Amino acid sequence: MTTSSFLSYCSVVSSTREIEWGSVITDETASIVFRVFRFPNIVALKFIRFRFAETEIRVITLKTKYAEETLADTAHGFETAGIPDPKTLPLETLDVSVAELFEANVHGEYFRRLRNEDPVHYCPESPFGPYWSVTKYHDIVAVDSNHKVFSSHRDIVIGDAPADFTTPMFIAMDGEKHVDQRKAASPAVAPSQLADIEALIRQRVCNILDDLPVGEEINWVEHVSKELTTQMLATLFDFPFEDRHLLPYWSDVTTTSETVGIEVDMKERERVLHECLAYFARLWQERAAQPPKFDFISLMAHNPKTKDMINDPMELLGNLMLLIVGGNDTTRNSISAGVVELNRNPDEFAKLKANPSLIPNMVSEIIRYQTPLAHMRRTALEDIELGGKQIKKGDKVVMWYVSGNRDETVIEDADRFWIDRPNARRHLSFGFGVHRCMGNRVGEMQLRILWEEILNRFDRIELVGEPTRVLSNFVMGYTDVPVVVHAKSS
Ligand code: HEM
Repeated sequence: MTTSSFLSYCSVVSSTREIEWGSVITDETASIVFRVFRFPNIVALKFIRFRFAETEIRVITLKTKYAEETLADTAHGFETAGIPDPKTLPLETLDVSVAELFEANVHGEYFRRLRNEDPVHYCPESPFGPYWSVTKYHDIVAVDSNHKVFSSHRDIVIGDAPADFTTPMFIAMDGEKHVDQRKAASPAVAPSQLADIEALIRQRVCNILDDLPVGEEINWVEHVSKELTTQMLATLFDFPFEDRHLLPYWSDVTTTSETVGIEVDMKERERVLHECLAYFARLWQERAAQPPKFDFISLMAHNPKTKDMINDPMELLGNLMLLIVGGNDTTRNSISAGVVELNRNPDEFAKLKANPSLIPNMVSEIIRYQTPLAHMRRTALEDIELGGKQIKKGDKVVMWYVSGNRDETVIEDADRFWIDRPNARRHLSFGFGVHRCMGNRVGEMQLRILWEEILNRFDRIELVGEPTRVLSNFVMGYTDVPVVVHAKSS
């Protein structure tokens, strides 16, 4: 079967049958996965992705009241022509929660329109119910700093956690309990502690880089980003090193959730998370019986405010999920993003090579540019006005950091990746206010050490294919970054 005849086969199948997301139609050579997602005035946008003769092919079919047409089909990379131009969509119903917008990296124009035309925007209907989008820098700071009105209680992403699987965690708490639990865990990532673990992290970075096969194509995400953050997390938890691969696995299971726009078997997710709980409950018991140390588990097991958490398994699990994801995806994706952006901006890479003292500033710029977590959500505890709009008690308010970090009224030339940017630390990627990222220094430290050691041994890390992005409206990251590393010639 040729590619083109297979494409017409797809189109026949998709226009005549209802297929569930995740269902697989197989003939000998191919499978189809397709998804329908809604836009105003458009009956359906079908997104078909399949493999044909080792090539990933994506087809986008737009169905309006009048016609159904194929907008983009490609055997070589993804053309974004199929996702509607946000300027043509009615503003009132524009929905930026669609995970595919982020996966296809086309969310930027949607947010630009909101910032320009309706910075505090109400979306009346979405798969997550109605929600407000806060898209400008200062409005986001205003919401994030006002925790008395904008509550973190229970849900901090756009979708609500399932009622039958509630996992309290301190990022999703208000008031004293949040403060107590944060205080208990934070010494693991305090500056004095970081000074102690810097040498260990550098050693691990060197080992990972020295093991890379020079001159061969590798996936940077798997070989470096994931491995390095996993080793760092294992250190912070003092987790058995030989089992460290479980940490990114549990992290991925945690973030793969309907609550951020990914369709997944939520019961299977629950089952795996219970395995995570059982593993950590054992560690907790061991640490509680030993003298206190500076890892997350020992700190919580010995702190008077958190030592009884072992008797509340769901709260223990929630906090584990927080500490695993907090330190994992975010740093992993910043590591990948640095490689991608320095390839896309060769002048910036030349600047870096000429002046490695730019690394700390570049690290902040990578974190701003990538914005590893696209949003945090709050729930209004009372009626309040924001940006001239009347928010009602109980409304969902989503702070889109990914948009605030591109706000041209605050950040000069915001779309530019600029490693010596003045005020590079002035970004929203770590949030603001009482929930501001607890691990920001450890994340930055890892990136700094990594780039120092990269420059010590490689001439460049060449991007040799199109990176693949994560499907999520929350985690901004990469699953594949194909690269070839080139050793220094001298
Ligand atoms: C580039 C790396 C990172 C980014 C972009 C990032 C981003 C964030 C964001 C956006 C928040 C929520 C802020 C808010 O609601 O105002 C947060 C909170 C948090 N992060 Fe990070 N993070 C990173 C690295 C880390 C690391 C390495 C750890 C731990 C090892 C960590 C642990 C946490 C924790 C525990 C919280 C909850 C704080 C609280 O609720 O008081 N993060 N992070």
